[in-house]
Formats: sequence, C-alpha cells, structure tokens
Amino acid sequence: MLTRRGLLTGAAAGGAALGAGGLLAGCTNRSTAADVAPPNAAEGFRGVRDGARQAGILAAGSAYGLLASFRTVAEDRGELVDTMRAVSAEIELLGSGERPEPLELGLPPSDNGVLDGVTARINSATVSVGASLFDDRYGLAERKPAELVPMTRLANDRLDPARTHGDLLLVLQAAHPDVCVHALRRIMRETRGTLVMHWLLDTFTRPDEQPLGGQTKTRNLMGFKDGTANPGAAQDDLMDEVVWVRDGDGEPAWAIGGSYQAVRIIRMFVEHWDRTTLREQEAIMGRHRGNGAPLGDEEETDIPNYVDDPAGETIPLDAHIRLANPRDGSPLMLRRGFNFARGVDGSGQLDQGLAFISYQRRLDTFLQTQERLAGEPLEEYVVPEGGGFFFALPGPGTEGWLGQSLLES
Ligand code: HEM
Repeated sequence: MLTRRGLLTGAAAGGAALGAGGLLAGCTNRSTAADVAPPNAAEGFRGVRDGARQAGILAAGSAYGLLASFRTVAEDRGELVDTMRAVSAEIELLGSGERPEPLELGLPPSDNGVLDGVTARINSATVSVGASLFDDRYGLAERKPAELVPMTRLANDRLDPARTHGDLLLVLQAAHPDVCVHALRRIMRETRGTLVMHWLLDTFTRPDEQPLGGQTKTRNLMGFKDGTANPGAAQDDLMDEVVWVRDGDGEPAWAIGGSYQAVRIIRMFVEHWDRTTLREQEAIMGRHRGNGAPLGDEEETDIPNYVDDPAGETIPLDAHIRLANPRDGSPLMLRRGFNFARGVDGSGQLDQGLAFISYQRRLDTFLQTQERLAGEPLEEYVVPEGGGFFFALPGPGTEGWLGQSLLES
C-alpha cells in the first residue's frame, strides 16, 4: 500500500511532465489548516466507505463550482499514472486546506497565492474518464467500462464540439468562486505537461443544507425546485442500487465502486420561458413552481399518483416528471445539477442553463430516461449544447489514488 507521502513523492518523482517545483518540493512540511469543515463540505476525499467511493458524487451542490474537461497528452501509461497521482494528491490537499510549502524565490511559486489556508478548501471534487481514454494510446481498450461510449446525439441536441467530450472530467465544488479558480490552477500547475484543457464551465447553485425535512432550496434557472425526487444520498443501500457499479454488473473488476456519469450542458431560452404563463410552466414540469409539490398535491414530498390519473388530468402525460420517472419500477438515477450563466450570446439572448449531471449504475438508465423525455414540451425552451458520457472512477481507498485500479490492475 502506498502511504500518502509516498503517493505525493511518487507523483513528483515520476514526472518531468509534472513541471518544475512539482509535488515533491510542494508537499513536504506542509503548514497546518484550521480543522473547521467548510459549510456543505463533502465527507472528504477518503470519507465514504473508507475511500472506496468518490465522496463528491454524493455531496450536495455548493454555492460555486466548475466542470473542467481535459485531453491527456501523456506519452504513455507511466505518465498517465503520474498525472492521476498528481491530480489525486492535489485534490486531497485542496480538500484539507493544507498548503504546499513555499519554494525558493527563483522558482515559480508552489501555490498561485489567490487564497491561503482554510479559505482555500474545496468542498468536493469528482474525477471521471471519457470513452476516448480507452483508445489505443494507453493500452486500456480491454478495460473500458462495458457501456461507456462517446455521447451520441440525442433528441433536440445541438452539440458544440468545443464543449463536448474529453478524456478526463473534473467537477469541483466550493463555497466561493475564488476557491474554484485557485483549486483549478493548482491542479493544472501540477499536470501542465500532460493535461490540456478542452472545455470549462463555471457553475453556481443555491446550496441545499440537507436534511431540511424534504424541503429543497435548490432551484434551477427556470425557477423550479431541482432535486426534490432525488434518491437519498445518505442511504447506502439505495446508493448501492442506483449509483455504484458492483460485482456481477458485467463490468471490469477495476470499475466496481465507480459510476456512469452523464453530463448535459443544457441551454435554457429563459426570455421565452419568462413570457410563458405559470399554468403552462407548471404543466410542462408537472409540479407547482412555488413549493415544488406535484400538481394536485400540497407538499413537496408528496408522491405523484399516476395510477389514479391515467388520462393525465392532474399531471399531464407529457409532464417532465411523469416522463422522467413514470414510477413504474423504472431504474433511478442520482441527479447533481448546477446552474450556469455565461453572459449574453451574439443575438443578445441570455446564455443561461443547467449543467445536468446524473450518476447511475448503468448508462442505459440515463439513455432510457432520455428516450422517454424525447419530444417533451420542455424541449421548446431548452437545447443541449455539450457535455459527454464519462465514468466516475472508484474512490482512492484509504491510501491510494484515483484511477489506481484502472491503471495498475
Ligand atoms: C434544462 C433541462 C431540465 C430541467 C429544467 C429539469 C427540471 C426538472 C424539475 C424541475 C424536476 C422536478 C424536481 C425534482 O425532482 O428535481 C425534475 C425532475 C427530474 N428530472 Fe429533470 N430537468 C431537466 C433535464 C433533465 C434530463 C436531461 C433528465 C434525464 C435524462 C432529467 C431527469 C429527471 C428526473 C429523473 C427527475 C425526477 C422525476 C421524479 O422522480 O419524479 N431531467 N427535472
């Protein structure tokens, strides 16, 4: 087993690719951090089931975040190993608030200086890999998760290649935007020889302080509560059923404890939406906008009863929630959506939307859900522009690093 120090030094020793003043110099004799957990913190890099799962997948959204997709230009498997060790080590440091020791003035600083100490702590990070990583570059073709494919064009899509796919996807969450910027630059500093950024999306959300008795505070930019009907992330049995790949799923052994991640960057035509009647908006979603209750019900936590509403008189048959989850035993997913607002497009329209992310044991669960949603009335107000299908790696274990089971098995 690797020790954490071994993990860090191993990464530095391995890599010319990792740049001058890399991890070895950067991580010895670290200054200590305050031990106060940031609000909405994930359980820590190795906090879920002794590190066997990535904690960021279960963590509720933080106020700010980003999605960063990279291409790897590592020359061989060894450099890829060094890269993943470096990414893991940085994530662990950034989650602890510990700082790399300052380097000599004659060297580029070990930290970008944007923040320091506990203020620099990220709440969570999640790392996943795309189908392209399993091409012929690193000898990984035989290890590709069974269902992982490049995201195909789905109903209503207008995919922009500049915002789609990637070898590696990083999802960061933090309480402040500068923490995300700081963390991204720290990770990129340590991997600049091997990871090239492909696309980047800044996100934000209203953090949901769980549990709030079933009251979701998070809303998407269409004004509706988002996440209400999510399966409870604190229920291990449910997460085993819904999220984590397990033995017997027909997946390579290294993938157990990982999860299929579907990412859809969905632009919303918010001006159009804001001119739509509330009745129409609620019929499209199937829920009351104010308190999030299913149409015809009182409470957000009420379960829609489709059996007693076969003609869709209360909740239309083509309402988003009814199609997404007909409550007929169809498999579920865990959604982790974030809002984005990128300014204005060339025609003066606001460029806003939802970075939809779902985690599921089988990619087919996402595909089936998407298929049921094809042609839904919501499509008039949204267009998916990017994202990709990825496989979120199993956790780092108690002493290892992200991707170890994939790259060393
Ligand atoms: C911009 C696009 C989207 C918007 C605005 C949106 C909005 C919503 C809203 C307001 C809810 C109800 C509250 C909740 O349970 O979270 C919901 C539920 C849900 N959505 Fe979406 N959604 C979008 C895209 C998608 C996509 C792409 C999928 C999957 C392919 C999806 C799957 C689901 C599922 C499974 C539910 C839970 C339904 C239930 O269990 O009752 N959504 N969505």
